[in-house]
Amino acid sequence: MLEIRAMTIDDYDEVLRFWIEAKDLDVSPAFDTRNRTAAYLARNPGLSTVALDDGRVVGTVLCGHDGRRGSLYNVAVAEDHRRRGIARKMLDRSMAGLKEAGLTSAFLMVYAANLEAAAFWEHNGFAPVSGVNYHFSYFGPVGPASS
Ligand SMILES: CC(C)(COP(=O)(O)OP(=O)(O)OC[C@H]1O[C@@H](n2cnc3c(N)ncnc32)[C@H](O)[C@@H]1OP(=O)(O)O)[C@@H](O)C(=O)NCCC(=O)NCCS
Repeated sequence: MLEIRAMTIDDYDEVLRFWIEAKDLDVSPAFDTRNRTAAYLARNPGLSTVALDDGRVVGTVLCGHDGRRGSLYNVAVAEDHRRRGIARKMLDRSMAGLKEAGLTSAFLMVYAANLEAAAFWEHNGFAPVSGVNYHFSYFGPVGPASS
């Protein structure tokens, strides 16, 4: 039976296994540690979503906001469960939470080579933004979230 609900840190082991197996997701256990995931979920209560089929994790959405815009990460559905509306249901749940929190917009990042994902996002109301480059700075070493 399919269950779509808020992700909790108790889901972490199964969720990490799912992320590692998922293709097209840039997830590294060194970054998506238990502590960082716990901190993210605590900072954004109830916004992230997990889909389970008979208890097996088959989809995830990490969702949060910084008070200005919502953001989505690690959006994926297991290959054998795609095109059944699971991503849409997870997004609807997480986006409803953002709206409840007073947010009016959200963004996410897609690798330029991931044309399938780009088509999915465009179909689901996330228009590509032209003329914007992504800038990034790593300023580690980091605190407790890294372990
Ligand atoms: C992208 C992904 C999460 C979609 O999951 P899904 O559960 O198959 O999507 P859904 O079944 O909920 O689809 C919702 C809608 O999007 C459409 N859609 C799904 N995949 C699509 C695609 N690749 N291109 C265009 N539209 C797509 C569906 O037809 C459906 O449309 P409808 O509501 O008009 O009927 C899944 O393909 C996936 O995990 N991909 C690999 C990981 C990835 O690339 N993640 C994104 C990283 S930015």
